[in-house]
Amino acid sequence: MLTHSKQQLDILRKMGVEVWKLRAADRSPALQSQSQSQQQSSPQPQPVAEASTSAHRARVVAATAAQAAQPESPDQPAAAQEDAQPSLQRVAQAVAACQKCELHRHRANTVFGCGSSNADWLLVGEAPGQHEDLQGQPFVGRAGKLLDMMIAALGMQREQVFIANILKCRPPNNRDPLPAEVAQCEPYLHQQLALIKPKVIVALGRISAQTLLRSTQPLAKLRAQTHHYGANNIPLVVTYHPAYLLRSPQQKAAAWEDLWQAREIVRQ
Ligand code: URA
Repeated sequence: MLTHSKQQLDILRKMGVEVWKLRAADRSPALQSQSQSQQQSSPQPQPVAEASTSAHRARVVAATAAQAAQPESPDQPAAAQEDAQPSLQRVAQAVAACQKCELHRHRANTVFGCGSSNADWLLVGEAPGQHEDLQGQPFVGRAGKLLDMMIAALGMQREQVFIANILKCRPPNNRDPLPAEVAQCEPYLHQQLALIKPKVIVALGRISAQTLLRSTQPLAKLRAQTHHYGANNIPLVVTYHPAYLLRSPQQKAAAWEDLWQAREIVRQ
């Protein structure tokens, strides 16, 4: 059963998730078969207030392109920095300098991603939009606010997950990514994945899901199941893009089911 704390129900109500639909979903055999036994034994999700203290404990990277472009630390010799283990910051520096495709010509900023370098959750969107390009941060517009609420409903804050995109630069007029752009940019996502080692990947929206899964199936067919991604077969769950949820709020309950599925994977 999807058992929610009062705090979660409050956040879900604010998000516009129709709680009666969740109750109906409680009886869905598909959801129940996912992990009935774990759900019975699993503890309640962390309330948001508690999450803020663990947010302090989380090793926060918030590796923005702007930070990546900072000059290297003067009190550390360059050779020592060269020898350092690959880190998210080094990948962010590579992204900030990237000119592998034409998108670099028109960008204000690269959008590397943000969050904890040891996050259990990696949320992957499609590509930066106008606001993200200007601020160098992922999901900062209205869709980002909704994404933050979804994360809060899971008992976490943005700083505790890692949020990235398939493309690190904004496509003109927010058009879909071209295969050649994905081919040049996806290795950065692989590097992020290898360093963060999340327990679950959540593909946000059709483009992210189809790209990561090399599929042409519609999103409705790809969600409500667990896929795997990359050399380490990281479990991958597909859900609706928050921008789509703003246009189609009736799908928010389904998105919440997807997030709950991902939460069960993390708890295993
Ligand atoms: N949409 C995305 O897919 N990613 C962002 O960062 C912002 C909007």
